[in-house]
Amino acid sequence: MVEKRFIVVTDNETRFNELNDALKSIGTSVWLHWNTDLLAQLVGSLGTDIIFIDFIGDNAEKAAELTRSLLVVYPRLWVVGFAHRADSGLILEAMRAGARDFVELQSPMDAMRTVKSILEQSPSLPAQPSGKMITMLGARPGVGTTTAAMHLSLLLKQEYLPDQPVLLLDFGYPSGDAALYLDTKVAFNFCDAVRSLRRFDQALLNTAFAHHKSGLAIMSLPQNLAELRDITPTDAMTMLSLLKSYFKVVVVDLGGFAGLDLLLYALGISDHVHLVCEQTIPSVYSARQMLGNLRDRGFDAERIGMLTGKYDTRIDMAPAQIAENLQIRLDGHLPQRTEKMIACANIGKPLLEVAPNDPYLNALRGIATTLTGVTGVRNPAQNMSVLRKMFSYA
Ligand SMILES: Nc1ncnc2c1ncn2[C@@H]1O[C@H](COP(=O)(O)OP(=O)(O)OP(=O)(O)O)[C@@H](O)[C@H]1O
Ligand SMILES: [Mg+2]
Repeated sequence: MVEKRFIVVTDNETRFNELNDALKSIGTSVWLHWNTDLLAQLVGSLGTDIIFIDFIGDNAEKAAELTRSLLVVYPRLWVVGFAHRADSGLILEAMRAGARDFVELQSPMDAMRTVKSILEQSPSLPAQPSGKMITMLGARPGVGTTTAAMHLSLLLKQEYLPDQPVLLLDFGYPSGDAALYLDTKVAFNFCDAVRSLRRFDQALLNTAFAHHKSGLAIMSLPQNLAELRDITPTDAMTMLSLLKSYFKVVVVDLGGFAGLDLLLYALGISDHVHLVCEQTIPSVYSARQMLGNLRDRGFDAERIGMLTGKYDTRIDMAPAQIAENLQIRLDGHLPQRTEKMIACANIGKPLLEVAPNDPYLNALRGIATTLTGVTGVRNPAQNMSVLRKMFSYA
């Protein structure tokens, strides 16, 4: 049997030990303290089958609050309350907050039985949201981060996951570049979404989020970045995690985003991170600095792969050398397509509409295939007409 992992939230070591002892024959328990801003993040990154929350004495109220907020981020998480002895009022409070069960520390055998039956009922209870987040970082302004994020998200929506919700989260600065490229008006921005955190649901997503005609959802930062100061970092982080539960793929353009905490968090919950770096000394220099900063803050830079921006074989600086110098893997090249890009920008259309077979898009298709594990259906509309023809001739 796969080892089960439980998280126990309490400030009291004895209580943790008691629960740990009761459960050690079925799995490993990890102890987390209250009041950790990153609690929600840790729960996600540790991955867990069940999270136990301390409802003892004065804790009951904040335990209920924590239960509620964790379930917003991880709707399928199995929260179990615990106390020395459970009275019906306490159990009710926990259940109202969304806990699925309650155990008593003074009855370790019962606690173990309860947990075993939970695990049997639902053998795998992933705490992790099901969507994937893929983040594009820019070594410096102008290297093509937004263009890459925008086209990747569009390809994913149109050719790879046409029936699934896909979001382009445009954290680039100046705000709203991606929306401009896609000729889509974004009225509901990231801060609006964070302010709606407590009432966030599918209906809000359908009505408030901007959608490109392909169905791709787009969300930007507010025009006035000062608005970011009015939202709490924890709420912003919760929002990011939540987006992963609602969208199959979230592509994040972290181009010029300066808010370090949120940046680190977004990187932390990203499943893939690409750094766009051109074959120029300033670009490599900026990339080194950025990676140095991230490494200093404990981020594992091995998770980042390089994409050569505006790749040109004539430039005497090989991408493999750059990647080696930066000590990151090389994920691919985005060919230089200056004239095509300018032409697209001037008519306000993405390259995908103007030249669907452009080598730039083929490079991104490689990434989309790796990400989704499926081969895209190029031009679904055309395939439909082939099908229709087949049936009409039959
Ligand atoms: N592969 C490419 N070949 C040629 N030009 C490109 C390529 N990718 C992007 N560009 C052009 O480079 C310019 C900057 O692109 P983009 O806005 O995507 O970069 P960015 O890294 O997001 O910049 P910023 O930091 O300003 O947000 C745009 O004019 C875009 O059309
Ligand atoms: Mg940009």
